[in-house]
Amino acid sequence: MKRMSRWTLRKRLVVAVVTLLALAAVVIGFASVVSVRSVLLGRVDAQLTAATTRSSGAADEGPGYGGSFPRNAQPPVPEFVGVPGQAAGTLGAIISGGAVRYAGYLDEAGELRPLTTRQVAALLSVSLGGAPESIDLGGQLGSYRVMAAKVGDGAMIVGVPLADLEFTLGQLIAVISGIALGVLLLAGGASYLIVRLALRPLDRVAQTASDVSELPLDRGEVALAVRVPDDDADPNTEVGRVGASINRMLGHIGAALSARQASENKVRTFVSDASHELRTPLASIRGYAELTRRSGEELPEDATYALGRIESEAVRMTAIVEDLLLLARLDEGRELAQDPVELGALVSAAASDARAAAPDHDWHLELPADQVVVTGDAQRLFQTVANLLGNARVHTPAGTRVTAALDANDTTARIRVTDDGPGIDPAVIGSVFERFVRGDVSRQRASGGTGLGLAIVAGVIDAHAGTVAVESAPGRTVFTLTLPLARANPAIGVTAAPADTGHTAPSAMP
Ligand SMILES: Nc1ncnc2c1ncn2[C@@H]1O[C@H](COP(=O)(O)OP(=O)(O)OP(=O)(O)O)[C@@H](O)[C@H]1O
Ligand SMILES: [Mg+2]
Repeated sequence: MKRMSRWTLRKRLVVAVVTLLALAAVVIGFASVVSVRSVLLGRVDAQLTAATTRSSGAADEGPGYGGSFPRNAQPPVPEFVGVPGQAAGTLGAIISGGAVRYAGYLDEAGELRPLTTRQVAALLSVSLGGAPESIDLGGQLGSYRVMAAKVGDGAMIVGVPLADLEFTLGQLIAVISGIALGVLLLAGGASYLIVRLALRPLDRVAQTASDVSELPLDRGEVALAVRVPDDDADPNTEVGRVGASINRMLGHIGAALSARQASENKVRTFVSDASHELRTPLASIRGYAELTRRSGEELPEDATYALGRIESEAVRMTAIVEDLLLLARLDEGRELAQDPVELGALVSAAASDARAAAPDHDWHLELPADQVVVTGDAQRLFQTVANLLGNARVHTPAGTRVTAALDANDTTARIRVTDDGPGIDPAVIGSVFERFVRGDVSRQRASGGTGLGLAIVAGVIDAHAGTVAVESAPGRTVFTLTLPLARANPAIGVTAAPADTGHTAPSAMP
């Protein structure tokens, strides 16, 4: 049952139709054979009764000798079997004193033939005075219908062959089986075709559903235009109702997705507007604080301290606002610049910045001999490498060895930043690329990060159709960025390093 419930509807319907038809064929065939048999048997019994009457008449007339009898048959037996009117195959036996005195049958030529001992023994089982019985005599005689009647102080058994009846029934069974088999095959094929045709719309409905399942619905503007074709969405048919329901559902989902997208857009616009608006007041705060500090007037010590804090916090906040603005713009899918960028110079510039910022770390650079050019936004790409190197600087103790490596194969460029620091906090390793995810502050040399650095790395690399990956264990942390190489248009000139970062690419690292 369990196995059947996993069959396709198509298979189940076809199997059900064929099984039912087969059952019907068996019942009809069985009933026909049984009724024909009883009719034929009635006829044979009538023949048997007539033969018995003829024979017993002859037997009553006293002993006589048949010309073809075995001469030594003792005692002499009446020629009761071959009386006129008896059909070929008629069988007769005389039993007296518990023994068979004579037993024989008429052959096709009308000659009397004796029975074998085994056939005689079979005759002895026939009950006296009873209704006709069927027995099997074996050999060339086969089945017989026999009847025992009392004659004098003995008994007489007369039988007629059932061969004709068996042949007719055999013929009937063969014809019925043949027809049934043909009908079953036809019905099986026809029902398969019909079911297939009837279920074809269901396949199209399923195809629509699977088309929808392949659409990226989780983000971005979603145009849910896929619908079940009108022909398969006719509510007057069962499959049509499924199609129509799916279309209604798709309509709902489409509306919900548009609403979600609209509200997401609103939030993004809000964040990017807010960040943008905050830049100016922050610049003013920094400016005024600096102005006051430089005014030359003698300020109380705690006022100087407070001014320093105001300035440093304003700087920090500016960085956060810039990060938020960048993330909001990446989310909005704003077009990035599409320039050729030479990664070797970019990585080496970022590394030299990092080295300048933390001379107490051990910085290394591994660059390939050839240029590695990708298409994209140099400034943003520089920022990703700077963020990774900044992390390797901020989240590791002094003396940590940090390696920035660049290599490329035929299609992709790969940037790896490796450090032998304490590794990423295991509590955040699975989500470091998400926003505002920071590790345990006590593990860090300098606290104060916002947890946006790696989110920006992931966002920028994603916008460049690249991938980010991280592997971390105490003593070895590796960030890997891959980017598709720009091989398509070598005619475009190469931007060596971001023009507006103010960095000069150093020729070599120590
Ligand atoms: N090289 C590293 N070694 C150890 N921990 C790291 C390393 N790089 C990142 N981390 C961990 O991953 C966290 C997330 O990094 P991310 O750059 O996103 O944020 P942040 O550095 O804390 O703040 P931000 O970069 O925004 O100033 C960090 O807080 C730190 O715990
Ligand atoms: Mg960081």
